[in-house]
Amino acid sequence: MNETTETATRKRALSCIQPSGALTLGNYLGALKNWVQMQDDFDCIYSVADLHTITVRQEPAKFRAQIYSTCALLLAIGLDPARSILFVQSDVPAHAQLSWVLGCYTQFGEMSRMTQFKDKSARHAENVNVGLFSYPVLMAADILLYQADFVPVGADQKQHLEIARDIAVRFNGLYGDVFTVPEPYIPTTGASVKSLQDPTKKMSKSDENPNAWIALLDTPEDIMRKCKRAVTDSQARVCIGEGKDGVNNLIGIYSALTGRTPAQIEAEFDGQGYGVFKQRVGEAIVEALRPIRERYADYIADKAELEAIYRAGAERAAKIAGRTLGKAMRKIGFAF
Ligand code: AMP
Ligand code: TRP
Repeated sequence: MNETTETATRKRALSCIQPSGALTLGNYLGALKNWVQMQDDFDCIYSVADLHTITVRQEPAKFRAQIYSTCALLLAIGLDPARSILFVQSDVPAHAQLSWVLGCYTQFGEMSRMTQFKDKSARHAENVNVGLFSYPVLMAADILLYQADFVPVGADQKQHLEIARDIAVRFNGLYGDVFTVPEPYIPTTGASVKSLQDPTKKMSKSDENPNAWIALLDTPEDIMRKCKRAVTDSQARVCIGEGKDGVNNLIGIYSALTGRTPAQIEAEFDGQGYGVFKQRVGEAIVEALRPIRERYADYIADKAELEAIYRAGAERAAKIAGRTLGKAMRKIGFAF
């Protein structure tokens, strides 16, 4: 999105990801791969949403390492700072500022209905903090500051995007057109990757069983081992079918990585058992992640360069965000 390539016709897309731990194959195939592709069609703004992460208590050194690591991974998968704006949320103070303002235009009742808040506060009864409650307001600020047209999000974030839209419509109703009302962007491709140990659940890094998920930075040995142990069924036939959640999932992964259709995959493994199939799926994952791991190693080895990239992104982001924040505050009456 630099000044020479920016065109008035391109729509703006924005998304953020929390630096809350190892990113998984599920994050990659379900969301991040799509972020990379969107760079061809949209002006993209991507952020590491570190302010969101402290709704859960973090160990400082580990948290800092995860922020760096997430930044390096986003570059390693192919987000391109020459085309897109990449930055760390806490580097742009306007997020916290607009979040306060928008919080005063959001009702306690509507926040109380958020299913993620209800889930998380039930699961972490010992730390139901106000940040966890008002988290969707910060997310609305992330989006509205950049006048984003489209926000690629997974199903779990749709309700939060709805709130961002409601807040934008309400604010615009009071003060005129200040914010672009964002649309969800649901990619046509993009897999929902399931746990390798319980394929009825989605693959998640918070699963206690590490064999259930593959991290983008897992070693080839780990990946092969986890694939070999993946839960399947007793039919020994590689095909899509009911009651074959494990095999369906592996076919989905293999399809997303190789571009082959499920029918082609069924033909490829016709007459062969699960041993060969799991081996081949494992190899496809290893090969897909190998260049990511290699590029990651380069980026993480040069912290100064990594920081320079993200600071430059934050400067560009701050200009756009500052314009929106200023406009919103002046409309309210602040002498800003
Ligand atoms: P999370 O890791 O749950 O914070 O999710 C970050 C992004 O990755 C969201 O857009 C999710 O929808 C997506 N995502 C996470 N896990 C999976 C999965 N197993 N399959 C597909 N997409 C996923
Ligand atoms: N809440 C999102 C998640 O947990 C991350 C996020 C923060 C986000 N701000 C955002 C996503 C703005 C899209 C747009 O996955």
